[in-house]
Order: sequence, then C-alpha cells, then structure tokens
Amino acid sequence: MHSIIQYQETIKTHFEELKLTKEPKNLYEPIQYIISLGGKKMRPVLTLMASEIFNGSLENAIHAAAAIEVFHNFSLIHDDIMDDAPLRRGHQTVHEKWNINTGILSGDAMLILAYQYFENYEPIIFQKLAKLFSKTALEVCEGQQYDVDFETRDDVTISEYLKMIEYKTAVLVGAAMKMGAIVAETTEENANLIYDFGLNLGIAFQLQDDYLDAFGDPETFGKQVGGDIIENKKTYLYLKALAQSDNEEKEQLLHLFSIQPNDNTDKIESVKTIFNNSGASKETQIAIKEYTLKAFETLNKMHISNEKKEILRTFGEKLMNRNV
Ligand code: IPE
Ligand code: IPE
Ligand code: MG
Ligand code: MG
Ligand code: MG
Repeated sequence: MHSIIQYQETIKTHFEELKLTKEPKNLYEPIQYIISLGGKKMRPVLTLMASEIFNGSLENAIHAAAAIEVFHNFSLIHDDIMDDAPLRRGHQTVHEKWNINTGILSGDAMLILAYQYFENYEPIIFQKLAKLFSKTALEVCEGQQYDVDFETRDDVTISEYLKMIEYKTAVLVGAAMKMGAIVAETTEENANLIYDFGLNLGIAFQLQDDYLDAFGDPETFGKQVGGDIIENKKTYLYLKALAQSDNEEKEQLLHLFSIQPNDNTDKIESVKTIFNNSGASKETQIAIKEYTLKAFETLNKMHISNEKKEILRTFGEKLMNRNV
C-alpha cells in the first residue's frame, strides 16, 4: 500500500502528463486552470486506495481515478455558476475569471474527457465502469437540482436534505471507491461494501462541508465563507436551528433566509449566532461523527486484513477532523 501523499503525487504527475491544454485555448485553459488549483484529490485517492486494498495496481487504477477527479472538477465549475460563487481553492472561480459560457462549455468537455479515460480498460471492465459512472452522474444532477429547488422552499425536511446530499455528493465518493474495486477485479460483495463505506463517508463529508461553509477560517478555507447563508441553502445547520430555536429566533431565521441584502455581513453574523445558540452547530458535529461511524461499521463485513481496515478507518478519521 502507498501513502495518501504518494497517491496525490501520482495523480498530479498523471495530470501533468496528460497535457490538458491545446487549441482552442478558451476551451482547454479553464480545464487546466481548475485542475492545477489542486484541491484535496480525495476521490481519486480513494479510487487508488480501494484498488490497492483489493490487490490491484496503481498503474491500472490511475485512469479511473483521473476520470473521477475530472468529473468532480467539472461539477465544481457548474456548481460555482449555480451557487454564484466567487472563490474556489483560494482563487477566482472559472466563470469569474472567464465568463459563464466558458464555464458551461469547458465543463461539458470535462464530462466527455472523464468518459474517454475509461477507454483505457478492456470491454468488460469498461462496461462496468461506464454503467456505474452514468448512474452516479445522473444522481449528482438530481441532487444538484434538489439543492437549488430547496433554496426557495421553506418546508424542507431533514430526510429530504439527507437524500439531497446523498445524491449531490455521497454517491460520487461511493462510486470512486467502487471503481477502485472494479478495476482490481474483486468480488461483487467487496465492491458493494466499499461503495457503502464511501457513501456514508460522503454524507459525513458534505455535513462537514456545510459546517465549514459557515464556520471555516476564511484564510484557509479557499471558498467564500458564508456562501451557503447568502444563497439561502437549506443545510443541516439551518434545518436543525429552525427545529430547535424558540419562536422569536425561529421567526428571525425565517426572515433572514427570505432576504437578499446587498451587503451580507450582518445576515451572515446573525445566522451564525442562531446556529450556535440553537445547538445546531453541535448537532451537526454529532451527525458528522454518526455517519463516519456508520461507514466504519461496513468495514466489519469486508473480507480484507485488519491492517487494510485500519488504513480506511484512519482516512475517515482524518476527514472528520479536516478544516479545508
Ligand atoms: C467540494 O469538494 C464539493 C463538495 C462535494 C463538498 P472537495 O471539498 O473535495 O473539493 P476539493 O476538490 O478538495 O477542492
Ligand atoms: C457541491 O455542493 C456538490 C457538487 C459540486 C456536485 P456545494 O455547493 O456545497 O459544494 P461547494 O461548497 O461549493 O464546494
Ligand atoms: Mg457550491
Ligand atoms: Mg452547490
Ligand atoms: Mg458547500
């Protein structure tokens, strides 16, 4: 097994060798730009890790890993347009640096590129990967649509929220791991168990993303802190705060999420105070832990060495304690 840093290096080198920039520049430069901004590379790391866990090689798994990361970056470009986000990975978002049309088309090209990387595999593996990928990508679209629909609804339930984040985020984490299992040609049972592990880790990951969006450090977070509050996103923090506040704070929160002021500084501060006073911040931390533990439970059913289980557990724990 390799270390996480080695996986990240392998992915970085692979992208450098792919030479993503060519003509027309306005199509390919934004692709090179977003990829070169880096990010944590969590999903491709998980593909490589899953492949090695089931005794596959890095060289073989790298194409599936690249596909997952390019798809993820495509979804970020389009997500930033939809969320009107100015910052990504500490730099201007693609649609801010270029324009919305560039973001749309470069994003589309990235989706195609991701599929193209599967051509490195033989037909049986190719088909398995493409099938999982198509299902997953469509679910991500569904999740993203719910996310946007919820912005203008005031009756979103916790279970609707959980379904939304499962689709927009968690299925891709599950699929990243299952792809590692597929290219390593392990059993169907192992592949499904590692998918469940990734799915629950992905739910915890998005809960944490929501938490950091409000309470992250602007110096290191790399995205606009308070962006979800500005966009009236119905996050776990918001839904729990609404459920647990007294009437006065509840009315205040509903009001704050119905306005779109020019300057959002006061709105963000007021909402964060309610998130803390209502206990919603604590509840979110508890939920992050619960879903991480749920992921760990599937490890017990997996037919791999304890040493390998420990590697997956350590990864989950690190994720739970991240601040970026
Ligand atoms: C951001 O994903 C989008 C979410 C699903 C929350 P990451 O937090 O993995 O972003 P990068 O790739 O590390 O920048
Ligand atoms: C992102 O959710 C999900 C996808 C990109 C599909 P967010 O909108 O919360 O992600 P960030 O916070 O912008 O990274
Ligand atoms: Mg966003
Ligand atoms: Mg979004
Ligand atoms: Mg977010």
